[in-house]
Amino acid sequence: MTTSDWNATLYLNFGNERLRPALDLLAQIPTEDPKLIYDLGCGPGNATVFLQQRWPNARIVGIDSSADMIEKAQAVSTDIEWQLADLTTWRADAPADVLYTNATLHWLDDHETLFPSLLDAVKPGGVLAIQIPNNFSAPSHTSIAGVVREGPWQERLKPFQREHPVKEMGEYYQILRPHVTSLNMWETIYHQQLEGEDPVVTWTMSTMLRPLLDQLSEAEGASFVEDYRQRVRKAYPQQPDGKTIMPFKRMFMIAIK
Ligand SMILES: C[S@@+](CC[C@H](N)C(=O)[O-])C[C@H]1O[C@@H](n2cnc3c(N)ncnc32)[C@H](O)[C@@H]1O
Repeated sequence: MTTSDWNATLYLNFGNERLRPALDLLAQIPTEDPKLIYDLGCGPGNATVFLQQRWPNARIVGIDSSADMIEKAQAVSTDIEWQLADLTTWRADAPADVLYTNATLHWLDDHETLFPSLLDAVKPGGVLAIQIPNNFSAPSHTSIAGVVREGPWQERLKPFQREHPVKEMGEYYQILRPHVTSLNMWETIYHQQLEGEDPVVTWTMSTMLRPLLDQLSEAEGASFVEDYRQRVRKAYPQQPDGKTIMPFKRMFMIAIK
């Protein structure tokens, strides 16, 4: 099995669209004067810097398993501590006032044990703030599954597919509620107006398509992407002004311990 690293530059395409939910999550955290904040799956640090702007006196630690992401983040701020670590084995060195994680936990499994274990890293009265995409029933994501299923690569790609990586909101309520004093949960659909040719392909290329394309030869990858491109072009037609509307649903949770 080979897996390549994330490509931070490619991920930073559509930076504004990716940042907006991060800021919407941040805006709902009620904490006034935190001492210790972790940003789990901080990526290139684009949201972490806003944590620092809001709480300049806090110790802020950004954690990510991608060397490319951490390298980009280090160039963004030297006031934030950056750690290259895998969240499946990472342990907090002290309990946090705020554990913030934006667009990351859908890459990790076993949420029924993961979410309570994250709360172990939060102080009593502290906050676990989570945003995860919930767009897996939309054509941007179901088309990926379609191309996997209908191609010669089906068996090879199956172990790398993340077709249903998130649960229903009610399930998250049941997982978190026994461990917290309050829970604020909501969903937002962002009707993103994307620029450029085939922007839905560009969008998923740096995220959901990446682990699949890593498994294919160059020729297979080109054929996979072409099939996917044709499917999403139909589902997301270009508007007369050249933009493409890509609705994208996201789940938000603010749990106070
Ligand atoms: C979609 S990006 C989100 C980045 C950033 N939080 C943001 O809001 O833009 C997901 C990030 O999660 C990281 N990630 C995925 N699985 C991880 C793991 N097991 N441990 C640590 N980081 C992980 C990836 O390297 C990537 O930087």
